[in-house]
Amino acid sequence: MFLNRTRQIIGLDIGSHAIKMVALRPTKGEMPFELVHFGVAELPEETIVDGAITNEEPVTQTISELLEQHKVKSPFVAASVSGNAVIVRRVTMPRQDADALREALPYEADEHIPFDIDDVDLDFAILGEDEDSDSMDVVLVAAKRERVDEHVAVIEAAKRTATIMDIDAFAVQNAFEFNYPERQFEDVAILNLGSSVINMAVLEGGNPSFWRDIAIGMQQYVVALQRQFMLDAFDAEEVLRRVSRNAAADDGSAQDHSLTEWSEDGEEGADLQDAATDPRVLEVIGQVSDRIIGEISKTFDFYQAQAMREHFDAVFLAGGGAHITDLAERLQNRMGWPVEIFDPLRRVHIPEGMFDPEYIRDSAPESTVALGLALRGVME
Ligand SMILES: Nc1ncnc2c1ncn2[C@@H]1O[C@H](COP(=O)(O)OP(=O)(O)OP(=O)(O)O)[C@@H](O)[C@H]1O
Ligand SMILES: [Mg+2]
Repeated sequence: MFLNRTRQIIGLDIGSHAIKMVALRPTKGEMPFELVHFGVAELPEETIVDGAITNEEPVTQTISELLEQHKVKSPFVAASVSGNAVIVRRVTMPRQDADALREALPYEADEHIPFDIDDVDLDFAILGEDEDSDSMDVVLVAAKRERVDEHVAVIEAAKRTATIMDIDAFAVQNAFEFNYPERQFEDVAILNLGSSVINMAVLEGGNPSFWRDIAIGMQQYVVALQRQFMLDAFDAEEVLRRVSRNAAADDGSAQDHSLTEWSEDGEEGADLQDAATDPRVLEVIGQVSDRIIGEISKTFDFYQAQAMREHFDAVFLAGGGAHITDLAERLQNRMGWPVEIFDPLRRVHIPEGMFDPEYIRDSAPESTVALGLALRGVME
């Protein structure tokens, strides 16, 4: 506790699309914390593939530049891993104390975790005990050591120390519990829609009960737009953003650009703006949304079958994908539950004059994991 109070810990989310950085400090004001640092830096393509850091150098450099640009002094970082290298299971086991469980952990994990136990870092948390049945609920976490080591390595190469290593889905859960205390009696799912993976966390009336990383991500949109319209990745990404921005602005001026051959000639910027209002583009985006929603709904089906639950009070969307046009609406139509956009800074004071409020508003959804990690540094 002493350490946490005196030294700042930076929440650093090393995503495959972008690195997000958040730091907080306690306040005496209306909000419990205020923002100290906030930044997002995109990574070069193909440096992180399916959660694995395939090219460390550009990742290290992007982290260093981001921290330098924001004059971040603290050497301490809370980071996280996700995707196919992480497995989290909630299990019921005979009641025992934490020391006994720690000792039995490799054997317990072997039963529930389909990884070679020798290759993983294991951890657990006791969620609750039931005296009547002499049992307890435990969450088991296994993360492939190789993946954890890669993350530690880039952080060290950027001259910082990883003091906390978390997983994305827990950071998302943490961000929810902090920001929406009045919703803790509801049954909610939070979906963090990243570039290569969707982290899902479920809370049943405040009781964390299910975590899953769904192996599909928002890069599906970029790939589809690239393929359909012969764009490079950068332009495809830009079109996706402009479509979302247009929808958010909702200026109602439905321009008809359907016949414009925007991808083949003319001025670059103007072309992309035309693309963003082209019905063919909207159609491709809609198709990808349906595919992604199909995967999400499979995971909901699985969860519902094992938890025997029919209903959610709300589904929250976080991550870069929360910006995507119509995705929330389509998901709501498909699942039948209210879908809301998650606000990770809902209970964070943003000091005036120190930040660009528009930039923060525009990058808020994708900073959810970084915020959840930063909270670990100030809350414990
Ligand atoms: N304004 C926007 N409009 C549309 N899409 C956006 C917008 N901002 C981000 N995205 C999409 O969100 C994705 C990035 O989201 P995010 O930063 O959450 O991913 P990540 O954390 O880097 O990836 P992962 O966690 O899967 O490794 C990109 O694929 C991008 O296309
Ligand atoms: Mg992410």
